[in-house]
Amino acid sequence: MEHLYIANWKMKFTFNEAVEFATTHYKQLIQLGENKNTIALAPSFEALYPLVEIFKETPVKICAQNCSRHLGGSFTGQVAPESLHQVGCSYCIIGHNEHRTELQEDIQAIAQKCIHLLDNDITPVMCIGENRESYEQKRTLEALSEQLEPLLHMIRERTVVHSYLTPYIAYEPSWSIGTGQVAPMDHLEMVFSWLTEQVHALNHDIPWKLLYGGSVTPENVGDLKKIDKIRGFLIGKASLNFQTFEKIVQ
Ligand code: PGA
Repeated sequence: MEHLYIANWKMKFTFNEAVEFATTHYKQLIQLGENKNTIALAPSFEALYPLVEIFKETPVKICAQNCSRHLGGSFTGQVAPESLHQVGCSYCIIGHNEHRTELQEDIQAIAQKCIHLLDNDITPVMCIGENRESYEQKRTLEALSEQLEPLLHMIRERTVVHSYLTPYIAYEPSWSIGTGQVAPMDHLEMVFSWLTEQVHALNHDIPWKLLYGGSVTPENVGDLKKIDKIRGFLIGKASLNFQTFEKIVQ
């Protein structure tokens, strides 16, 4: 089955390192994206344009790690969704746990970003996930519901349906991100079945697809791919080494 693999480099590569990774592994990355899978690289803002130029007219896509909730104006330090479109980004991550905790991004902002991205022809990758406490208390669905329901309501009310874009919801338990810990398969199967039903019930006009993120490695990806509702992966640490990333995709 076709999957989307997003290499989320976070702030772990400098500008030079991102460009070096892209040029060193140029041919191999294109080869990975030439079969039925889609490969997207998510460097930090300053490396977006050079990477778009490097991979112009190739199957390798470029993904932004965030965008402004605003369309334009007096917002020092922010980047408008329209600019990301002009630069040539295909995807943009929003609502990542590191945005919610580090940048205090709230549900309202995530919904606004999602709508503006769709309006600017960029596929949103909207992250949700429970924290360790909710997971341990078996309150995962409750926690996800609190994040997802208001988001999907706001998006349903405000967005024009862009049927050619298939936005993504990425399930990333915050306790799994960068920890090497992945939830057991029965938990993941339960969550992805529930998410599929929820998304359809709350927002059936938009063809959402589901991703998984959180400590994906070559060792665990085989099992994760068996969950057929998972249509791709957000890969942090394991995407910083080309050979490891390649093993995950293959
Ligand atoms: P990780 O990061 O693979 O290092 O856990 C995933 C993410 O934050 O998207």
